[in-house]
Amino acid sequence: MMGYADRFFLALALCLGFVPLWNPRRTTEAKARIQRQPFGKTPDQKVIDLYTLTNAHGVEARITNYGGILVSLKAPDRNGKLADVVLGFDGPEGYLKNNTPYFGAVIGRYGNRIAKGRFSLNGREYRLALNNGENHLHGGIKGFDKVVWGAREVKRGPALALNYVSKDGEEGYPGNLSVSVVYTLTDNNELKIEYSATADKATILNLTNHTYFNLAGEGSILNHEVMINADRFTPVDQGLIPTGELRSVKGTPMDFTQPAAIGARIEQQDEQLLLGKGYDHNFVLNGGGAPALAARVYEPVSGRVLEVYTTEPGVQFYTGNFLDGSIKGKGGQVYQRRYGFCLETQHFPDSPNKPDFPSTVLKPGEKYATTTIFKFSAK
Ligand code: BGC
Repeated sequence: MMGYADRFFLALALCLGFVPLWNPRRTTEAKARIQRQPFGKTPDQKVIDLYTLTNAHGVEARITNYGGILVSLKAPDRNGKLADVVLGFDGPEGYLKNNTPYFGAVIGRYGNRIAKGRFSLNGREYRLALNNGENHLHGGIKGFDKVVWGAREVKRGPALALNYVSKDGEEGYPGNLSVSVVYTLTDNNELKIEYSATADKATILNLTNHTYFNLAGEGSILNHEVMINADRFTPVDQGLIPTGELRSVKGTPMDFTQPAAIGARIEQQDEQLLLGKGYDHNFVLNGGGAPALAARVYEPVSGRVLEVYTTEPGVQFYTGNFLDGSIKGKGGQVYQRRYGFCLETQHFPDSPNKPDFPSTVLKPGEKYATTTIFKFSAK
């Protein structure tokens, strides 16, 4: 039995909110599957947040509105054990450094390379920032991966809608461009990314996401088995600029039409393929239109499977060849060469200079809209 004094203190504690038996705010928050917390500040004092999206199975995606970066993604193995399967950092500092290799980021305006940073549109030549030798890479010096995006939580989904207005002339690109990227985490364990944009002047656009996956959660990715739904790829020159040819993968180490371990042929020296460094090639996808299966990756120890679906005509398969152990990431992990792989769904590199490639031109009055889905399962 409670004495008067106990009852008095209990009543007082309830009033002061120490014992929140009924608190409508808490109830809603507990149900909500998207939560926001402060992540830090950019050097110019812009506040950035971290959004945690959780689905009914406990799969969790964390995204910051700095660069639209996917900071972590926890997916279950064949025993239901969750592991973070993307490379990155625990806090904001690592992402704010200039030499981060685009971990998890939204890439724009143009994913991958544009030769010599030049292209012509409607009879005018445009010159873009050069940030990869003599070429333009991933949107330039300050691409979409290094800007603060507006963010809106969408509880149903759960989803995070990011938006950014890129000014006429930014990094050399023409036209004011209004971009939106919506991340949705579905109960089918899919992270869906919907990109849309409009421009007030003809411009070029090729948005993607640069997440480095490691389905084991750590270590080398060479044991991962990969299937890429592509009969052809775009060969490149020494500067990794496509030659313009669409070449059959048949009989080459680029043939992933049947699953193969990443490590199986990666060291096969082939000057024509420039495979010496590892995979860093654009594949011409067989699908098209509605999101179609682009790739499937299986990690045999954990049993985790990643499937990628996209509306895009291409995917850049990049095996973390330029990671060199100089970056210390989450939990102090040292990211060595080939500790992560990317499947960057995209239009082909250097399309603005390759009239035969699918066009990346966005005209005023048109709407850019693409979708990519990363689906996680285990077997
Ligand atoms: C490119 C690589 C580049 C990497 C940047 C990939 O999309 O294809 O060549 O080094 O991004 O980390």
